Amino acid sequence: MRKALFIANWKMNLSYKDLEPYTKTLKEQKNTDAELVIAPPFLYLESVARGLKDSAVKLGAQNAYWEAKGAFTGEVSFSMLKELGTEYVILGHSERRTLFHETNQDVEKKVRACMEHGLKAVLCIGESLEERDSGKTFDLVKEQLAWLLEHKVDSSLLTIAYEPVWAIGTGVSASVEQAQEVHAFIRDFLRKSYGEEADKLSILYGGSVNLSSCKELMAQKDIDGALIGGASLDAETFIKIATS
Ligand code: PGA
Repeated sequence: MRKALFIANWKMNLSYKDLEPYTKTLKEQKNTDAELVIAPPFLYLESVARGLKDSAVKLGAQNAYWEAKGAFTGEVSFSMLKELGTEYVILGHSERRTLFHETNQDVEKKVRACMEHGLKAVLCIGESLEERDSGKTFDLVKEQLAWLLEHKVDSSLLTIAYEPVWAIGTGVSASVEQAQEVHAFIRDFLRKSYGEEADKLSILYGGSVNLSSCKELMAQKDIDGALIGGASLDAETFIKIATS
């Protein structure tokens, strides 16, 4: 019922010369029914869009600012992203929350602005190791999603990415049981607001997904795909993960 979705989050990696070989490799693959998305740094969006032309692979961005335009040095708007053909925007990534101090309120504003432009929001949530160790995982997840219960947004434009902070870039993925448990909790929680629509919503797992961990993770009932950092930097590996 839910189409698998795999998003390559390049973060601040790869260089201009890598774009052509990467997109070429991706364009050549025809083996998957899953939706594939590449989220490169802003600067490379246009080149990646050109490289992916006439392929089914979609373009994603890693962030954007909620205001439409104006004196916001260093920021990029959703309409700018849309003009370049971006379809997905990753929002509230834990690196944005931790390093750039984004709050749940900021993330809510971003998700709303994203949807006002008809773009798909990939809302990232997840607990730190300290929060997990002190038994606060579910409370934290609830806190990060609470605004969705109060002010519903268009679920057809919403994807949730559960990314335990302790699993991001560490090589230590959550176990399938840990991941499925939180994914099921998230879907249940969203049922309160979205009813049966919650069953159509994609919930991605992110955090050290690699070739050996992905198959088992993807076999879980409530895991609908993955947000992949490190392992997505090599196009072949990304494809193998998405087709495994
Ligand atoms: P990772 O990153 O796959 O390198 O752990 C995932 C993410 O941060 O989106």
